[in-house]
Amino acid sequence: MIHQTIIVLDFGSQYTQLIARRLRELSVYSEIWPPNTAPDKIRARKPVGIILSGGPKSVSDPGAPVCDPSVFDLGVPVLGICYGMQLMAHRLGGTVAPASHREFGHATVKVSSHGASAVLFADVPEEIRVWASHGDFVSAAPDGFDVIATSANAPVAAMADSARNLYALLFHPEVVHTERGLEILRNFAYGVCGCAGDWTMASFVDEAIGKIRRQAGEGRVVCALSGGVDSTVAALLIHRAIGDRLTCIFVDNGVLRLDEASQIRRRFERLRLPLVFVDASSLFLTRLAGITDPEQKRKIIGATFIDVFEAEAAKLGNVDFLAQGTLYPDVIESVSIVGQSALIKSHHNVGGLPDRMRMSLVEPLRELFKDEVRAVGRQLGLEEEFVVRQPFPGPGLAVRILGEVTPARLDLLRRADAIVAEEVKQAGWYARVWQSFAVLLPVQSVGVMGDARTYEYTVAIRAVESRDGMTADWARLPYELLERVSSRIVNEAKGINRVVYDISSKPPSTIEWE
Ligand code: XMP
Repeated sequence: MIHQTIIVLDFGSQYTQLIARRLRELSVYSEIWPPNTAPDKIRARKPVGIILSGGPKSVSDPGAPVCDPSVFDLGVPVLGICYGMQLMAHRLGGTVAPASHREFGHATVKVSSHGASAVLFADVPEEIRVWASHGDFVSAAPDGFDVIATSANAPVAAMADSARNLYALLFHPEVVHTERGLEILRNFAYGVCGCAGDWTMASFVDEAIGKIRRQAGEGRVVCALSGGVDSTVAALLIHRAIGDRLTCIFVDNGVLRLDEASQIRRRFERLRLPLVFVDASSLFLTRLAGITDPEQKRKIIGATFIDVFEAEAAKLGNVDFLAQGTLYPDVIESVSIVGQSALIKSHHNVGGLPDRMRMSLVEPLRELFKDEVRAVGRQLGLEEEFVVRQPFPGPGLAVRILGEVTPARLDLLRRADAIVAEEVKQAGWYARVWQSFAVLLPVQSVGVMGDARTYEYTVAIRAVESRDGMTADWARLPYELLERVSSRIVNEAKGINRVVYDISSKPPSTIEWE
């Protein structure tokens, strides 16, 4: 089934993905394409609308990204946002100038509720607070355009040529700080582009199952499970499609959290997924013995995983396909030519397998954002606690033990980490932060317990707020919560006599310590 699609041309804004996600929340399928995509290619995709994203450049900068001018003549409605608006104005004969007062952050916009604006601003109050982030502004709209909103610093805060179905906003409707932003996007999608809302997770599941069946035919599929949401949801979809011609392989690498391996096993049994469970923990720990360098730890874990996985897969005999939980953001990064928005550190995830394992890939989540994967997971019967779990790095606790990874240190960190998780959940903070965990430092210091002197390890607590892991701020956890965590760790994890809280943001720090 072909869904009504709105194409977002990416001019490098940090909010580009958010535009597509918001549209999908509105049940409208949306894809992100490079800005200079050839008009023929766009036409062939038959989009019902095009959105030009924001971007960090000025339209007059040398090398500023542009779209083909015929994008405005395809007969498809276009909405320019911020840089997208400036580009539209610049291309169609309006004037773009540096603003004397740059607008960053909140601004108040007055919208007109008649004429060309009636559709875009339907049900939007006359005055709204919006999120702006621009140094340039449109000082004169092109011929044929009406000014449909103004702000103190921007005489043209929005403009429209309703005869040609061209609309533009200087502010960001995709950002939650913009009042009624979602409504404005909805008005564009439904009111201007004529969307019917044909993108739902229920229909996605049915279509994905059909697609997997067509791709796999009578073949067999093997799926490397990481224990996380993505590979689990991928496995569930494939299992629905081809039943026991799917085999899942889970490798216990010895650096999982407390009880995690057995939880994964139980979850898969409950879901009746065909699972080969390999306890390779002693192999991993043997290879990690004596290693203190974090990059080396990562390499050893990656290579050992491949060894174990390959050996297990070989036991299965002839397997034609390898399933992977690749998500849409991974796919977009690889096509984005602007790149400013995509400075994402690439991680060597469990599941990245060498070319010699020549199998075709089955990637049923390639079209989805993370929030959509979660929605699909719920639909397929995954428990809420698992669906909303915080990210956990592939190399596991090995990167959270600074210095050598030994069974004794793993045991200490597992206890401390479990206490952090328990208390953070109990206090209602688990879902409010991006990640919260414990790190075991290779530092021993003097303490006193009862009447005895101690010389034991330090645990650092890390809790951060973040949108995507690329930047992060330390979470302002309540003192009472930190106090409970600290006192429980020192009392219950014998071998730790000091707990510190990490108050570094990323950048310049990273989220994990390593
Ligand atoms: P850093 O430490 O680079 O982490 O600020 C950013 C985010 O990535 C996660 N992370 C990983 N995830 N495999 C993963 O799947 C890895 O090797 C890996 N290393 C870091 C980290 O937990 C944080 O959410």
